[in-house]
Amino acid sequence: MIKPLSMNNSWMIAGDSKLPIMENNSMLENRWDNALYESKHAFVWQYGEELLQLLSVQPGERILDLGCGTGQLTQKIALAGAEVMGIDQAPTMIEKAKANYPDIQFAVADAKSFQVDEPFDAIFSNAVLHWITEPDAVISCMREALKPKGRFVAEFGGQGNIKAIASALYSVLEASGYASPEKMSPWYFPSIGEYATRLEQQGFDVTYAVLFDRPTPLEDGDAGMANWISMFGSRFLSALSADEQTRVIQAIEHRLKPTLYRDGTWIADYRRIRLVAIKA
Ligand code: BEZ
Repeated sequence: MIKPLSMNNSWMIAGDSKLPIMENNSMLENRWDNALYESKHAFVWQYGEELLQLLSVQPGERILDLGCGTGQLTQKIALAGAEVMGIDQAPTMIEKAKANYPDIQFAVADAKSFQVDEPFDAIFSNAVLHWITEPDAVISCMREALKPKGRFVAEFGGQGNIKAIASALYSVLEASGYASPEKMSPWYFPSIGEYATRLEQQGFDVTYAVLFDRPTPLEDGDAGMANWISMFGSRFLSALSADEQTRVIQAIEHRLKPTLYRDGTWIADYRRIRLVAIKA
């Protein structure tokens, strides 16, 4: 039986809906639309299935899915025989995960401050760590949450991830009068060298790490890039009027079309780090 997580509720307080837009990063990511995520961004967990092979679940293991979203990969871990728990910072995602998989334990928790009552054999994380600009805090929590020799298996955006998309986004915002939009970036795309060093500094042995390009077709044909920007670039758009948002998105699409649009499909220029580290 998995004991409940003790959770630091500071994020919940910071996410109070009375705060004005743009004040708090977590809050904006918290507004992710779980229906849009599930209907148009299924690729997020479909690609994550490859990572499950690297996790190599052993029946009876206790596994934490860090940043579980709406729970699709958490369920696969459970089906492989593990006692699994999923945590995510976004209440909307956890609400949907619980509705999707009522037999699995899910909780709202912050990857930078979570604590567990009983350590895990492994922590799994797909497509989440690039949203956390304080990697050392996450690594520290994970170290505390793992048993000795426990493993951390993750995939996230690495150095050079979405280079063309980010560059178009920043150029269009700058041309619209927004100074240094890159300073608002919610993203963290480290090199293998940087991330492995951080893990080693906190007592992990990195046993496997790769950086690879994974051009990713977006769903929904012509609307694919607009959906992606609306969902994942909300931090940059939320201060703009609806008309301005439409204009900015169209200008970004115009810049990206020659390189990232082919035969009716938008292709995001993803670049992933996939790694395994063992708590020494
Ligand atoms: C990614 O999966 O690489 C990603 C997703 C959303 C925003 C930035 C990167």
